[in-house]
Amino acid sequence: MTTPDLSVDIGGLQLQNPVMTASGTFGYAMEFKSLIDLDRLGGAIVKGLSLEPTKGNPPPRIVETDCGMLNAIGLENVGLDAFIQKKVPFLSKLKIPVLANIYGHTVEAYARLAEQLDEVAALAGIEVNISCPNVKQGGVAFGTDARMAHQVVQAVRRNYSGYVLVKLSPNVTDITQIAKSVEDAGADGISLINTLTGMAIDIHSRRPKIANITGGLSGPAIRPVAVRMVWQVAQAVNVPVIGIGGIMCTEDALEFIIAGATAVQVGTANFVNPRTTIEVIEGITSYLQTHGMVSIKELIGTVRTP
Ligand SMILES: Cc1cc2nc3c(=O)[nH]c(=O)nc-3n(C[C@H](O)[C@H](O)[C@H](O)COP(=O)(O)O)c2cc1C
Repeated sequence: MTTPDLSVDIGGLQLQNPVMTASGTFGYAMEFKSLIDLDRLGGAIVKGLSLEPTKGNPPPRIVETDCGMLNAIGLENVGLDAFIQKKVPFLSKLKIPVLANIYGHTVEAYARLAEQLDEVAALAGIEVNISCPNVKQGGVAFGTDARMAHQVVQAVRRNYSGYVLVKLSPNVTDITQIAKSVEDAGADGISLINTLTGMAIDIHSRRPKIANITGGLSGPAIRPVAVRMVWQVAQAVNVPVIGIGGIMCTEDALEFIIAGATAVQVGTANFVNPRTTIEVIEGITSYLQTHGMVSIKELIGTVRTP
């Protein structure tokens, strides 16, 4: 049986297959090197990066919920300098595209990160997390306001010459409006979704189960929301869409691809089964063979709606 072609182009960046890892669930990739062959992945997105080191929120920061988890890690990370000195040397040895995921609390912080990462040749691109609060606009998340989302992506675009993926927040009324504004600002691709804001309460102590009170919901519980948003955005923009949200197995990834995603990212599943990405790559290959397809491109966006 011939091996189908799994390669995809996500807006100027070529991937050998459509399966990537989601930021914050895969460390700096090195943590998974003894668990899977990293060079088999379509690509890897590493932990969200800020200009300065960030300690994150106090514990408890994670709680399991029905079909998912709530987290309020608070974007703990080593900061730009330590990332370049201590993490990039390992990442530069990988044969797959690696993207840094960036965030800031001002437009200027995003712009500076983009400018400095433009010098890091080992990176194939950056993924801009716009789910963060804008401290200059009363803490409203950049990604929940089309104008602010546009501003931040435009500032990054001006300072970064490589591939720019923009990751959308699902905590909005009309996801297509935000998607169109970041496309207009120069995004090469759009990834979605980030976590949905949630809350869980211990009924005996009557305290929130996580110290931050609210957290981001991820895992299978959010998948139908994510598939719906990917389907809507894929129709609204011309750049490729990368689907994220509750992918635990091959069937889940295929759902996103059929909805219109050119590639997918695996997140929470990495904590449950670190081999999920590899199993999904193998599963997609089998699915294409079973359905007589020679390329993954024959499947993207083929959902049959009336
Ligand atoms: C523990 C944890 C940490 C995360 N950290 C980040 C991050 O640093 N940057 C980011 O853009 N998304 C982050 N995310 C969101 C994931 O990348 C992903 O968008 C979300 O969890 C939905 O996918 P999933 O259901 O497959 O986990 C994090 C998610 C989890 C569970």
